[in-house]
Amino acid sequence: MPKRTHPLDIADPPSYQPDKRASSLSLLAIFVLFNLWYISSLLLTPSSFRNVISVPLHAQETLEKCRALHIKPGVPEDFHNRVKSDRYEEGTTKTVIIRNATVWTGGVKGLEVVKGDVLLEGGIIKSVGVDIDEDELAKLEGSKDMKVINGNGRWLTPGIIDVHSHLGVGSSPELHGASDGNSFKGPILPWLRSLDGINTHDDGYANAVAGGLTTALILPGSANAIGGQGFVIKPRPTKERSPTSFLLEPPFNLNSSYEGQVPSRWRHIKHACGENPSSAYQNTRMDTAWAFRQAYDTARKIKDSQDEYCEKALAGDWDGVAGKEFPESLQWEALVDVLRGRVKVQTHCYEAIDIDNFVRLSNEFQFPVAAFHHAHEAWLVPDVLKRAYEHPPAIAMFAAFARYKREGYRHSEFAPRILADNDIDVVMKSDHNAIVSRYLIHEAAQAHYWGLDENIALASVTTTSAKVLGLEHRIGYVKVGYDADVVLWDSHPLALGATPVQVFIDGIPQIANPHTVFKPAALQSAPETPNYDKEAEEAIRYEGLPPLLPLGLNTTSTVVFANISSIFSRDRTGNVVEKFVASSTEGRATVVVQDGQIVCEQLASSSSCDHFLPSLPLEYRIINLKGGTLQPGLVSAGSSIGLSHISLDDSTSDGQVYNPLVGPIPSIAGGDGYLARAVDGLQFASRDALLAYRAGVTTAVTSPQHASFVGGLSTAFALGALYGLEVGAVVRNVVALHVTLAHGDVPGISTEIAALRKYVLHPPSGDAERLVGRLRKGEIPLVVGTNNADIIATIVNLKEELEAEIGNKIKVTIVGGAEAHILAQELARADVGVLLTPPRPYPYTWDHRRVLAGLPLTNESAIAHLVRAGVTVGLGPQGIQGSPLLSSWAVRNARFDAGWALLDSPDLLSRSDAYALVSSNVEKLFGLRTDPYQSDLVASEEGDLLSFEGKVRAVISSRRKKVDIFE
Ligand SMILES: *[C@@H]1O[C@H](CO)[C@@H](O)[C@H](O)[C@H]1NC(C)=O
Ligand SMILES: *[C@@H]1O[C@H](CO)[C@@H](O)[C@H](O)[C@H]1NC(C)=O
Ligand SMILES: *[C@@H]1O[C@H](CO)[C@@H](O)[C@H](O)[C@H]1NC(C)=O
Ligand SMILES: *[C@@H]1O[C@H](CO)[C@@H](O)[C@H](O)[C@H]1NC(C)=O
Repeated sequence: MPKRTHPLDIADPPSYQPDKRASSLSLLAIFVLFNLWYISSLLLTPSSFRNVISVPLHAQETLEKCRALHIKPGVPEDFHNRVKSDRYEEGTTKTVIIRNATVWTGGVKGLEVVKGDVLLEGGIIKSVGVDIDEDELAKLEGSKDMKVINGNGRWLTPGIIDVHSHLGVGSSPELHGASDGNSFKGPILPWLRSLDGINTHDDGYANAVAGGLTTALILPGSANAIGGQGFVIKPRPTKERSPTSFLLEPPFNLNSSYEGQVPSRWRHIKHACGENPSSAYQNTRMDTAWAFRQAYDTARKIKDSQDEYCEKALAGDWDGVAGKEFPESLQWEALVDVLRGRVKVQTHCYEAIDIDNFVRLSNEFQFPVAAFHHAHEAWLVPDVLKRAYEHPPAIAMFAAFARYKREGYRHSEFAPRILADNDIDVVMKSDHNAIVSRYLIHEAAQAHYWGLDENIALASVTTTSAKVLGLEHRIGYVKVGYDADVVLWDSHPLALGATPVQVFIDGIPQIANPHTVFKPAALQSAPETPNYDKEAEEAIRYEGLPPLLPLGLNTTSTVVFANISSIFSRDRTGNVVEKFVASSTEGRATVVVQDGQIVCEQLASSSSCDHFLPSLPLEYRIINLKGGTLQPGLVSAGSSIGLSHISLDDSTSDGQVYNPLVGPIPSIAGGDGYLARAVDGLQFASRDALLAYRAGVTTAVTSPQHASFVGGLSTAFALGALYGLEVGAVVRNVVALHVTLAHGDVPGISTEIAALRKYVLHPPSGDAERLVGRLRKGEIPLVVGTNNADIIATIVNLKEELEAEIGNKIKVTIVGGAEAHILAQELARADVGVLLTPPRPYPYTWDHRRVLAGLPLTNESAIAHLVRAGVTVGLGPQGIQGSPLLSSWAVRNARFDAGWALLDSPDLLSRSDAYALVSSNVEKLFGLRTDPYQSDLVASEEGDLLSFEGKVRAVISSRRKKVDIFE
């Protein structure tokens, strides 16, 4: 007899340690069963029949298992006959009619829009676009379980679906000991399940739903090559209050180890290539690739032995398998299922090298890949994607979050459109809370701004995501019979700052008392975004690193800006003012710039600037702004832009300062009197800096990198400069003294405050004495990075105490400020301003937990609340967890953050105020008053910086004596 492979025999690879106890128990069981069967056959069978094949006791179960091996995931035949969702909960809203909606259904490749009523009942969509008869409505309205909502023609879409989230496994607020996203027990852990780590008390759920999120795939982290199985949830509260009750179509083997139903349901598994699994296990890419192959080899052997075993069993050849157990392994069954095509493989892979490597794996072991996640280089290798086993993987990505490690360095904001042009499925994902999943629609909107078609952009967070999850039979469309997960929006969902008016999950309205604001009619259609064809083409040509430096026109050049519809500039005190707004297309302005300075403004047809032009047209440039705007250059603070090129790679970074509270500072560095200055570590022309410059941010304030306590002195520099010795490259050498305070610091807050008090009152001799001296005179501000209201209160008290001791006012600014709204009045009274970072606060940690969530959950945003109280407010970048290190990529989005703030508070803020949030207010907060005539101006084409329509064409800088032009 040929030697048969048995699962227990293939346990030799070093990484596979079978559970010895379980194995010997099952061997014992086989032995006992075999003997029972043998003895009973001797007793009960007449001797003449003893050679007839005997069937083992558990034959039936074995046969079922064998048949189950070939069951494929799919949709039960009668699924679409359902009248009620399996997730419908008795006692919740029974019927909802949304009248007069503009429905983006997801159908016809995302091009179908239907107007009319939508009826939700029993957790499913009962009708779409069929106007419900008034009589019938009256009849229905009599029943108390009925809810009628007037859509007022607003957009209604399927609920937002996130294919990559860590909601629940990395909870908010994140407490120590509550991080269940990664196991570090080994690079290959296919037997782990994210479900086992899903916390039901994550503040992130309600927050996400407020942005329209209705479904999310919860994945383990990426510390492992195979991190475990993912589970799809709907993030709404349930009666049962358990993680299990959040699940959407979980696999049938959830609470048994075997899946017998026909058809089966999709499972998900997380894989990761590249830096993360490498660094967690001190591996190289080669080690990780081998770990994959070894794991899949193990799974393949089990699969082959199952098939061989079952071929005999199903043919009734029980002798052929006599004495052998059905080959299976609870540890490896998930990977065996991958090989059987029953698992959606969700793979975190960034670079071409990793994608190629994984595509090779998929072909070697013959399994399809559902999606590559992050995949910052996928857009460069569409042909590699097309070589993947069975079908090209979808690409699940961020819009703009990039360059934080080598793997993300060649990201392009044009990646979504380039992939779509190559017929690759495009999905935007949050990796919550890398991007807060509440703002996933904003990722799609940014992708649209950079050129992804409207229908594909909307699909990228709805229908395409549903496809990637294998759930397109029930979510991702507004279609009869689908889950009643829909969002009614206050504007077109791809408009800047689009916010839900109501969100339904399983037909249940999720926002108890939604707050809305009036949105301009123009926002009811998709933004008319600029043309970036040339830039997208260059991105490919330069393999992700297109030259970003502008064409600089120096002092001798004259530039004429024509066809300008609005001008915002600085008044004598530096405040932003509306200088000109054209009342008609005819009445547009012309501005002439020489030496980087405006020399003539033709604001009315009666005036003319012709006499300022050189005699030869060759000697000047005309830039037709096509109805665009001149506006202040934006000023960013709160990130570490300028101190690194790749923030997580210290070989590209300035590095951390000493914390004087943690250890003695070498005397050669200055001992206690040491103070690091960011200006000494500046690196110019990083890609983050130049991309921000191309988005109208001309100046940044950056402080040395530090974790806690005194962080040194910040500097202000020009984002468009090539190197530090250029004219105007450094705007101000020393800007402010920085301190960062958070619960969890070692030593703790009260020690840090005691030290800070002493530091200001009795500065150690050396640099500290001189520079703290300037702080004591009110010449440079004390900037305190903190989020917690109690710490902020302590700082307000400390300011008063120090002022009393010193005898004059000092300037104090809060950076972060997640909970600052709680003491807005007191901050205004104490003249302590806030650089809100991120601008839409999120309860990341305990210190952030009492955020003011903003529309539609609260009647105003944190920004509006602070402004209304009279606090000077600036906006810092969105960033990641408010970490300056992971925020420099987001500096470019300052314009959108300001535009969004304006749209959220139309009754409170003017356009000038919105610009101020990201320019003059930031300058005030950092004591960076500059000569208004030296302030930069940004010229944008076809729109302004505050919208998804303007494109930056030029920066006019009198400080740098030049005009930079982007062609
Ligand atoms: C739908 O709402 C729009 C906007 O409010 C309105 O102009 C239109 O008349 C409404 N249509 C119906 C059928 O009520
Ligand atoms: C097993 O899990 C499924 C899916 O959630 C559930 O419907 C079923 O009731 C569970 N069975 C038992 C016995 O708990
Ligand atoms: C200044 O501009 C002129 C005209 O465009 C050019 O010839 C000259 O080289 C420029 N000088 C510098 C220093 O860039
Ligand atoms: C001014 O801009 C508009 C777009 O707003 C464009 O249609 C028009 O042709 C431009 N005028 C000139 C003279 O170029």
